[in-house]
Amino acid sequence: MDILNTKYTLNMILGFLLDKSFILKAICAYGLYKIIRILIHDPLKGIPGPWWSKFSFTPYRFTLLRGYAESYSFELHKKYGPVVRVGPNHISLDKGKDMKKILASYKYPKTDIYKSIGFGIPTIFSTIDTDLSKSRRHYFGPAFLQSGLDTVEDLILQAGAVSLINKIGTEIDSGNGKYQANYFKLLQNTTLDIIGILAFGKSFNAVSKGGHPIIEWVKNSMFETALKQGMPLFRIFPFLIGKKYQDSRKLMEFSIESARNRLDQIKNKKRDTNSVDLLQTIVDAKNPDGSDLTEEQMAAEEVVILIAGMDTTSVTLTWLLHLYTLYPDVYSKVENEILENFPEKSNLITYKQVKEKLKYFVATIHETMRLTPAVNGILPRFSSSDGIQLSTHYIPKDVRMLLFLEGAGYDKDIWDHPNKFIPERFLGDKIHMSREIIPLSYGVRVCPGKKNYHFNLPKDSQYGPHILDPERDNEPKLLKSAAFLTRTPIDSDSDCRIIFTRRNN
Ligand code: HEM
Repeated sequence: MDILNTKYTLNMILGFLLDKSFILKAICAYGLYKIIRILIHDPLKGIPGPWWSKFSFTPYRFTLLRGYAESYSFELHKKYGPVVRVGPNHISLDKGKDMKKILASYKYPKTDIYKSIGFGIPTIFSTIDTDLSKSRRHYFGPAFLQSGLDTVEDLILQAGAVSLINKIGTEIDSGNGKYQANYFKLLQNTTLDIIGILAFGKSFNAVSKGGHPIIEWVKNSMFETALKQGMPLFRIFPFLIGKKYQDSRKLMEFSIESARNRLDQIKNKKRDTNSVDLLQTIVDAKNPDGSDLTEEQMAAEEVVILIAGMDTTSVTLTWLLHLYTLYPDVYSKVENEILENFPEKSNLITYKQVKEKLKYFVATIHETMRLTPAVNGILPRFSSSDGIQLSTHYIPKDVRMLLFLEGAGYDKDIWDHPNKFIPERFLGDKIHMSREIIPLSYGVRVCPGKKNYHFNLPKDSQYGPHILDPERDNEPKLLKSAAFLTRTPIDSDSDCRIIFTRRNN
């Protein structure tokens, strides 16, 4: 009898809950509650922004997921000023001065969005723990110093520049004097091989072989970690994730193997060099409590170096090359500077020589990082339990602040004609202007971090010096890109084509 009663009551409740008018009323009541709450207590009252931002972050999140948060953020800041509300508890910032204030100390930590990078294990890149961050930066620091990089420069040149030169030469020879390349992929393979040397102890030979599966493993591993964090079921039964889980395992095993190889070499005194590469600093590092890093921790650190170093560098170089094709006068100056200073074409140019002699070339890199920074989203930071006073607004505690790094390069108070590609901005007495851009971030979590061939655009290229974009003050049109972690070309097979030929002189 009791059971029947309970069943009856449950059916009543269920029927009531599923009744359409009840659902509608519940939604309306919730909406009303939110509106009243915002009217009475809105911590971000007075911060300008689109109407929906008071109620939801979803429209902005959508732009992030679709990869066009960068162009949208430009529009928002143009309309609403340097501090814009983009969600009930979210603001976007575009002033370099405000971003530097936030990034200068550990007080405004990274948000939990970083957790999906590196198998979900806290690393130099993803940790929000101040002690762990300081400790990792202390141990890995020597590999980023010039003295450390000098010890691996030859290896880097061989794995990077030399392989690239050989690859282009071989392809030109087998292609009747012409090689049409996808320069985005070519540069991605080059930086992958260099990161291989630095963090895995060997080149991946991606340039010569045309790629390496590790790129796919990294993508799938990040997806797998994000799924596991979002849905606990996948943590219990990870095999349900399928190929992405298997790729994540392959990445973990491959990275552990690299660390084991290095430890074996040291143990068996088979390491015939004293070079200070990142893998060495990873296997030597300690945790803040003095313990050695576990194999999984070492693997996670190798993988975040790959994620942080590979695409950022190859995407920067992709934009540099793209801009050279759009601004041929700038490229001629670069070419002349190199040929005048280094007439012997068979010699490799070292980093030190570049810094001493190739000032104009270096200025083109700064200008590329201003105009099209590789990391053009949106670094998220918390406003801490105290809040923070920015140049135009006070931001209360526990607000998510999205730092739109690219905004600093377009600040009209600092840059004349920000849409133009003018490397001279960073020359002579203006050399210090590179401090006004923050493509490598800033402060305590700042990024620690020849000419034998001609190149031309294919005849049917949709980009070139004379294809102008009214949206960019009639400067040459830039290739279509989407910004997820980095600002990557959307269709590199079509848009990043370049034709290499041999120089006659
Ligand atoms: C042009 C190339 C590069 C660009 C534009 C770049 C940009 C950045 C940016 C914007 C950050 C801050 C990220 C954040 O706070 O969310 C960062 C952090 C970092 N980068 Fe780079 N990066 C580059 C190259 C590299 C390379 C080659 C490596 C390693 C070999 C590297 C390793 C790191 C690491 C480990 C961090 C985390 C630092 C920390 O949180 O303490 N980056 N980078």
